Amino acid sequence: MRKKLVIGNWKLHGGLARNEALLLGIRGSDAVARIDAAVCPPFPYFQQAVELLRGTSVTVGAQDLSAYREGAYTGEVAGEMLADLGCRWVIIGHSERRQLFGETDAVVAAKVGAALRAGLVPVLCVGESREQRESGAAEAVVAAQLEAVFSAVGAKALSGVVVAYEPIWAIGTGLTATPDQAQSMHLFIRNLLQRIGVDAMGVRILYGGSVNAGNAARLFDEKDIDGALVGGASLQVDGFLAICRAASAAVTIE
Ligand code: 13P
Repeated sequence: MRKKLVIGNWKLHGGLARNEALLLGIRGSDAVARIDAAVCPPFPYFQQAVELLRGTSVTVGAQDLSAYREGAYTGEVAGEMLADLGCRWVIIGHSERRQLFGETDAVVAAKVGAALRAGLVPVLCVGESREQRESGAAEAVVAAQLEAVFSAVGAKALSGVVVAYEPIWAIGTGLTATPDQAQSMHLFIRNLLQRIGVDAMGVRILYGGSVNAGNAARLFDEKDIDGALVGGASLQVDGFLAICRAASAAVTIE
């Protein structure tokens, strides 16, 4: 069964007072009752989120982690440390990290391994640029990103991953992939996972890229879209809860 999953990626946004208002708004709502919902705040606010969401069904994730467990790695945060604090999910390989911070497929694969070792669920982001889509290379790009992780961690480990398809041209642009475009790529991803030996029917594949209250329901109606990784709209209580409500109304795939 693939229960719908909605994850808010706060990116580099937040402050104690703003976070508190947002978290209290989310925790009191029935919109999150029938789905898996999570927030991923910046590291300094991780514990605030855990504390304010304690006793609710909403879980907390991180936006990144170190490929290393411990040692002389200044500035790094290990998966085991996050797990200690109650972390459930960790976003890995977001296009902003790949593009702005030079994360290669090899780094992404190492981080997926590190997350699994720490007992966290990696939310593995893949997606093509506008030029790659226009040149017809979207599927090849996404396949290469997935295969890089597969060759490092193997099929069994990949079965424990959530995949997030985030076309780069749709992130923060207001340009959402159409439900058809997203569904077609999600099906491609599921088939590819199945082909390489992953039990793909059980893997949740999220869509990310300008998801909002107005477009979420149509996306969630698609058979292979199991939820969303939400950026901008996850910073407002109403926006995030409307997306959660749309996910609750959609059918859970048995
Ligand atoms: P937006 O929802 O702001 O487009 O961001 C999507 C994203 O990058 C989530 O990880």
